Amino acid sequence: MIPELTCSQNKTVEVSSTEERPLLKIALIGASGFVGSALRAELLGRSHSVTALVRHADEVPPARQLVTAELDVLKSDSLAEQLDGHDAVISAFSGRGYDDPRACFVKGTLSIIAAAKRSGTRLLLAGPPLSSGGGAQVLLTSLETEKTLDWTLVGTGSLRSGARTTRVRLVPDGHLFSRDEVPWISVEDYAYAMVEELERRAHPRRHAIVTY
Ligand SMILES: NC(=O)c1ccc[n+]([C@@H]2O[C@H](COP(=O)([O-])OP(=O)(O)OC[C@H]3O[C@@H](n4cnc5c(N)ncnc54)[C@H](OP(=O)(O)O)[C@@H]3O)[C@@H](O)[C@H]2O)c1
Repeated sequence: MIPELTCSQNKTVEVSSTEERPLLKIALIGASGFVGSALRAELLGRSHSVTALVRHADEVPPARQLVTAELDVLKSDSLAEQLDGHDAVISAFSGRGYDDPRACFVKGTLSIIAAAKRSGTRLLLAGPPLSSGGGAQVLLTSLETEKTLDWTLVGTGSLRSGARTTRVRLVPDGHLFSRDEVPWISVEDYAYAMVEELERRAHPRRHAIVTY
């Protein structure tokens, strides 16, 4: 049974980055993937410190303010230890390549949620629109039962490599959208919007969709 989300906070947040922002220490899961690579570039471009948590360290090119640690997200206890000392963890983990990608995405992400909770680390999750059947609904249901975890689930439609236009919006309550209603956006703009959410905290304990 999926709880109804209220519409009372359904205001659209225009994202713009003009004010002063704190420099943060971020753990980035999936830093070698399609979305994770764009997030890595966006975070480092804003001078945040990044710990890339990946299975194969050699897949992440070295950079200033970047350290890399090898980790399997299914090992939740080890992950919780790795998260210690970080201001937030961003997950761009996917189940791609596993026999059952959706089941593995959900299992891996539940392990990430447990680790974030155990270590008391704020969590931002990349995820598809709730209506896409990609497992986001299961995760949202789990997140909404959390009493202490500080989380945001950031969904979108399709992503492609493209331009970093920064002309994106975060729209709450993505379950109102089908994949067809959310136009594709560039992965660079998606990463921009996600780091804006990291810095601005516009949607604590909410699901939001990035769109133009
Ligand atoms: N691609 C899109 O068009 C799109 C659109 C909307 C939303 N999203 C969302 O964005 C997120 C990331 O998608 P993506 O397309 O970037 O996926 P991806 O390219 O397949 O990257 C997934 C990342 O997860 C890592 N990973 C896989 N299994 C792991 C494990 N057991 N332990 C640690 N790391 C592991 C992979 O590293 P390895 O090299 O170790 O495998 C890789 O870095 C997903 O939640 C997806 O739903 C994607």
